Formats: sequence, structure tokens, C-alpha cells
Amino acid sequence: KMNVIIVKNRAEGGKKGFEVFENAYRNGAQVFGLATGSTPVTTYEELTQSDLDFSQMTSVNLDEYVGLAPDHPQSYHYFMQQHLFDQKPFAHSYVPDGLNSDAAAEMKRYDQIIADNPIDLQILGLGQNGHIGFNEPGTDPALGTHKVALTESTIKANSRFFDNEDEVPRYAYSMGIASILKSKHILLEAYGPEKAAAVKAMIEGPVTTDVPASFLQRHDQVTIIIDEAAASQLS
Ligand code: F6R
Repeated sequence: KMNVIIVKNRAEGGKKGFEVFENAYRNGAQVFGLATGSTPVTTYEELTQSDLDFSQMTSVNLDEYVGLAPDHPQSYHYFMQQHLFDQKPFAHSYVPDGLNSDAAAEMKRYDQIIADNPIDLQILGLGQNGHIGFNEPGTDPALGTHKVALTESTIKANSRFFDNEDEVPRYAYSMGIASILKSKHILLEAYGPEKAAAVKAMIEGPVTTDVPASFLQRHDQVTIIIDEAAASQLS
């Protein structure tokens, strides 16, 4: 169920990640679930350099900070423009609207988008604490899109991208674990020694809300691409 591929480094992981994308694409995938963060960058580089055409395709992003406009340099919207959409435009690209202060309305709107555009391939990174999307430890796995209070460790990890910690958003909108598990195929990538404990818990540990990524064990088509450092605690 979990197909684990161990690579030397992120560059090689990007090539493998691209192969997963390409296979899905050739097999008729139309809706691609996308993530931000450092992890998918090498895969997006391979995509932008490829001849794959996404101009008839749809993308649906996992999450966005509450309070950041799409053109804010630290918004996930902006990240996607820089790393993928400017070079490879999609027909429709959906990202949660960080400026919608009506959380209930935004949750409903985004769940409808996902229902109307069932995700064929969802790409994920992995938090050091086992989070996927912004589903932090303890999150109810039955939730769809929801508003999340970011944990102190995630705020700290993200603060390197802001001038000071006070500017780091405290809330995000995120797809839920249940939304993610509806995707036909899931591709999770993780690189570096700081992900090793989360990788082990995700693959070899019990399915538990303490490790949101462990719910991927319940999905029947998951590809995991990790480098040797991230794989180092696997038995
Ligand atoms: C990003 C996201 C997050 C990241 C995770 C890992 O859209 O949903 O779950 O995938 O925090 O971040 P990086 O890749 O920067 O290590």
C-alpha cells in the first residue's frame, strides 16, 4: 500500500517525483493537489523543465495562511506562482483564500471545490512533527477544510521566512486529513535527518492523531519518496 522509494538526495527525489506526476498525467489525471514548502521544489523544477502541458488541467492547493493576500511574498499563493504557475499555467488553480475572514464560508467554499474537482494526484510534504498540510498532531482526521491554529514549533519553523516572529501568521486554512485521503493517488516526499523520526512514525508506527501522516497507512495508493537521511530510522 505504501510504496517507499529511497533516493540519494532531493535532486534525485525531484526526478522520481516527476516520474510519478508524469505517470499520473499519461494515465489521464486532470486534477493535481499541490503543496508548498521546500520539499516539492525539486519536483516542481522538473515539471517546469518538462514538456508536460497543464493548460487544460486543474490544481488544488493544500493550504494558505489566514491574513495574507495572494501577492504577499510569503503567501502560499505567491509561492505557487514563483515555483510552478508562472512557468506552467493551469486552466484553474485553486488555493484557499487567506483574505476570507469568514472561516465557515471559506471552509464550505473550498470543500465544494474539492468535491467538484476530485484530486487524482496529491503531492505532500511532511512536518517534523508528522503534520500533513496544516493538520497538526491532535487534529480530528474526519475534518474537511478547516481553520487551524498553528503550533509554536511550526510558527518557529516558518519564522525564518519573515522579518520577525510577530509577522508570522498564527492561523491557516488547510484541507483536512479526510480531504487528503479522498485523493486517488498520494505522493509524499521528505528529505533530511530532521524528518527521520516523522518518517518512521508515519510508516512503521500506529495510526494515531499524534502523527497525522500515519493516516496515510489507510490509503491504498501512496508513494513515499525519501532520501537516505530521512530513511535512516526505518527498521
Ligand atoms: C505546505 C504544507 C506543509 C509542508 C510541511 C513540510 O503546503 O502543507 O505540510 O509540506 O510543513 O515543509 P517543508 O517542505 O518546508 O519541509
